[in-house]
Amino acid sequence: MRKTIPLRDRIIVALDVDLPEKARELVTSCESHAGFFKIGLQLFMADWFNTLDWIIDRGHQVMLDLKFFDIPETVKLAVEQVNNRGVSLATIHGNDAIIEAAMLARGDVKLLAVTVLTSFGERDMRAMGMTATIEDLVYYRARAALELGCDGIVSSGLEVERLRNGLGEKLIIVTPGIRPGANLVNTGDDQKRIVTAGKAIASGADHVVVGRPITRNSDPIKIIEQMQEDIELSLTDY
Ligand code: C5P
Repeated sequence: MRKTIPLRDRIIVALDVDLPEKARELVTSCESHAGFFKIGLQLFMADWFNTLDWIIDRGHQVMLDLKFFDIPETVKLAVEQVNNRGVSLATIHGNDAIIEAAMLARGDVKLLAVTVLTSFGERDMRAMGMTATIEDLVYYRARAALELGCDGIVSSGLEVERLRNGLGEKLIIVTPGIRPGANLVNTGDDQKRIVTAGKAIASGADHVVVGRPITRNSDPIKIIEQMQEDIELSLTDY
């Protein structure tokens, strides 16, 4: 049984900009269609919690994507700082000890474990001497995260179907590395394991994270509408 998620919350718009004013401008130009925004390292370094609080005050949801990765105690203390602010989702790295520590501190925020970055490809795996496939590594980490009590995971659209089928509906799956259909080959940027918004949702993702295709577009609403149509269509087919 698929979760019922409003279409306006399916796309999480990544506010990857250098200034709070630009982030607020993006929110006001997208909020008629999208109600979920992601704050990552760039904006957080510029603005700490200010824009985050402002977005939540406007009634939208926020994913805080700082990918906490440190000794378990430090991660636990960092997660405590995110509690009770109205943040919907926050990211941590998917090592067992980190997840266990984060779970001890989890309050009202749902925690997502990053499995393998979508910019990380098979060549990077080989370079690190890893013999497993990315799909297997993602699956192993996601299953461990779920067993440790994590609310969800972040994974590319290429692994979602296997994760959803194997790990069930409870797990929240958020998928970055989203590109519009016409751009699926040779995007020229750092993302390697990419799919369309419709494909990610049809495969079982709850949300997709979209940055540059929206934030670097002269008409962000148009691209959001196109992606939402693609999502609706994929859910009709489902
Ligand atoms: O611009 P683009 O759509 O590639 O942005 C993707 C966003 O998702 C970025 O903010 C990036 O930090 C984030 N992200 C990712 N891969 C992950 C987790 C988060 O690309 N595994």
